Parts: sequence; structure tokens; C-alpha cells
Amino acid sequence: MRYAVWLIIIAVSICQQVWAEECFESRTDGYTPVEKKRIGEDYNVRCSETTGAVLWWADPFEDTQPMGDMPENIDADYLHEEAVVKSRKRFLKFYPCTNCHNGVVVPFPKNKKPRPLIMHLDIIPDPLNLKHGKGAIWCLDCHNPRDRNTFISHSGEPIDMDQPQKLCGKCHGQIYRDWRDGIHGKRIGSWQKGGKKRWWVCTECHNPHDVEPPFKQVKPEPPPELPKGMKSAEHERKHH
Ligand code: HEC
Ligand code: HEC
Ligand code: HEC
Ligand code: HEC
Repeated sequence: MRYAVWLIIIAVSICQQVWAEECFESRTDGYTPVEKKRIGEDYNVRCSETTGAVLWWADPFEDTQPMGDMPENIDADYLHEEAVVKSRKRFLKFYPCTNCHNGVVVPFPKNKKPRPLIMHLDIIPDPLNLKHGKGAIWCLDCHNPRDRNTFISHSGEPIDMDQPQKLCGKCHGQIYRDWRDGIHGKRIGSWQKGGKKRWWVCTECHNPHDVEPPFKQVKPEPPPELPKGMKSAEHERKHH
């Protein structure tokens, strides 16, 4: 009898895992997954049936945290609003990196020179031909050699892995300023002055290890259903 109960519990939990549906927010290579969960009558997200991309969030601030300090003391949006982001660390399969990169299990690298690797070939199949920077940069221009849980700034300071914008910004200053001002990237939330907004950080869209080829064009979603009683939306095309 007791075994039967256990069997049912195990079966139910396996089914829950199989049934758990995953959508993605931006990167399609498994780095922006969202689990679709029931909340009351609805779901936490609505996802495209054609692509699997999240189209709508019940709570746009679910799982977010404050963006954290930004370096420049200049006038920018995040100074006037509650800016939140999603942590990147929990999406990284190898975090915390210092489990291995502690100088003992994996020795600290001697210099920044590109060399063949026996590890991480799942994300960078050909480390001597990195698909970012056209040969001008390599791993340790971004990853901190002595504190592998962080990135590294131009002056050798650690950058938190939840703030990739600071890393990207050190080389892509113009795009970084555009992002900060809301011209590049994406935000959702309240548009009221001082309102709360979720910002997307650079690596939610860009794979840092492969910035080429450019993004594939996404098929447009089918038009939404017309409201009850409306037969056509032609009148929308007329400009008054
Ligand atoms: C399971 C152990 C392990 C974990 C965890 C791990 N790495 Fe590594 N990593 C290695 C090994 C081993 C090498 C060296 C490969 C070689 O020399 O061929 C390496 C090499 C590297 C390199 C090339 C430069 C260097 O130091 O040799 C980078 C960059 C790197 N890892 C980044 C990371 C980051 C970032 C994380 C965490 C998100 C991480 N690694 C987590 C094992 C690991
Ligand atoms: C342009 C900067 C840049 C370069 C160059 C770079 N990385 Fe990274 N790397 C990143 C960023 C940013 C992340 C975090 C990605 C995210 O948030 O999705 C990352 C993540 C990683 C991870 C963690 C992946 C995981 O899922 O745990 C490993 C391992 C890694 N890099 C290894 C390397 C190796 C090895 C090289 C060189 C062959 C390299 N990186 C070159 C910026 C860089
Ligand atoms: C150490 C300097 C450095 C860092 C840090 C860096 N990049 Fe780059 N990136 C480059 C260089 C160099 C190029 C090649 C520029 C070119 O082709 O004109 C490049 C190219 C790119 C491109 C392609 C540009 C194009 O015109 O097609 C993208 C996208 C990109 N980087 C995004 C990022 C993101 C996102 C980050 C942060 C995770 C980042 N970069 C961090 C140096 C860097
Ligand atoms: C919401 C998604 C998103 C975010 C967030 C985002 N980007 Fe982009 N980025 C794009 C798209 C889309 C393009 C256009 C790519 C194309 O045409 O192939 C682009 C283009 C670029 C390019 C090439 C620029 C050019 O003029 O061709 C660079 C460099 C770049 N982004 C860097 C960054 C950096 C740095 C950040 C963070 C500060 C960032 N991006 C944040 C989506 C994003």
C-alpha cells in the first residue's frame, strides 16, 4: 500500500516535469527560458504558438532585482525610475565558476593570449576563432582571470555577472549610451515618470560568444482576434 502511494507521487512529479512548458524571452539558445505556470485562472506568461517567444507577462517584475549601481554620474533614465533586471547568474550552467577556476583545480591563466581549450567547447566550439571581435579580443578581455565569477573592466576592476552592460559598455560606448537612454534594447513596465520598469540587459539578446551572423528575422505573429461583434478592422486603416 505504501509503495502504491509512492508510485503515484513519483508518477505525478514526473508528469509535472514533462508537462512543464518552457517559453523563451529573447535569446533562442536556451539562455532566456521562462517556465509557464498557472496562476489562478491564467498563466504567468502567454507565449507565441509559432515561435515560443513570450508575448505577455502577468507580472513583468517576477524574478527581477534592482539593476544595481551604474558607473557614470550623468543624467539618465535609471536615475529617475525604479529600474529592475533579471539576474543572469542562474541561467549560467557553470556558475559559480570558482568551483573550478580557483587556481588549483584549473590554474590561473598565464596571459591573455588565445590558445586552444579542452573545456567549454559546447559554447565556443572553436576558441581560436571566436565569433566576436574579428580576432581583436579573446576570453580574458571579458572574463576576470583571478576572480572568474566576475567580468573585468578596462582598469582591472571586477564587474558583477548580473551587470553585463558594464562589460559591453567598455568597448561599445555608443550603443551602451543608447541603451541607457532607451534607444537600444527593451523595457517593459510603467511609463509614468519615476515608474518601475524592467530593463533587458545586453546578454538577454546577444550571445557574447557569437555576435555573428546577425539575428534571424522572426515571422510576424498572426493578427489578434477581432473584438466581439466587429466584422472587420478596415476602418482602422482610414486616417482622419
Ligand atoms: C567544471 C569545471 C569548470 C567550471 C565550473 C568552469 N570552468 Fe572555465 N574552464 C575549465 C577548464 C578545465 C578550463 C581550461 C581549459 C583548457 O585549458 O583547455 C577552463 C577555461 C576557461 C576559460 C579560458 C581561459 C582560461 O582561464 O583558461 C574561460 C574564459 C572560462 N573557463 C570561463 C568560465 C566561466 C565564466 C565559468 C563560470 C560561469 C567557468 N569557466 C566555469 C573548467 C571549468
Ligand atoms: C565579449 C566578452 C566575452 C568574451 C570575449 C568571452 N566571453 Fe564568455 N561570457 C561573456 C558573458 C557576458 C557571459 C555571460 C552570458 C550570459 O549572461 O548569458 C559569458 C559566459 C561564459 C561562460 C558561462 C556559460 C554558462 O552557461 O555557464 C563560459 C564558460 C564562458 N563565458 C567562457 C568563455 C571562453 C572560454 C571564452 C574565450 C574562448 C569566452 N568566454 C569569451 C562574455 C565574454
Ligand atoms: C573588449 C572589447 C569588447 C567587449 C567587452 C565587447 N565587445 Fe562586442 N565587439 C568588439 C569588437 C572589437 C567587435 C567587432 C567590431 C566590428 O566589427 O567593427 C565587436 C562586435 C560586436 C557586435 C557585432 C557588431 C556588428 O556591427 O555586427 C555585437 C552585436 C557585439 N559586439 C555585442 C557585444 C555585447 C553584447 C557585449 C557584452 C556582452 C560586447 N559586445 C562586449 C569588442 C568588444
Ligand atoms: C532587446 C534586445 C537587445 C538588447 C537588450 C540589446 N541589444 Fe544590441 N541589438 C539588438 C538587435 C535586434 C540588433 C540589430 C541586430 C541586427 O541588425 O542584426 C542589435 C545590434 C547591436 C550591435 C550592432 C550595432 C550596429 O549598429 O550594427 C551592437 C554592437 C549591440 N547591439 C550591442 C549591445 C549592447 C552593448 C547592449 C547592452 C548595453 C545591447 N546591445 C542590448 C538587440 C538588443
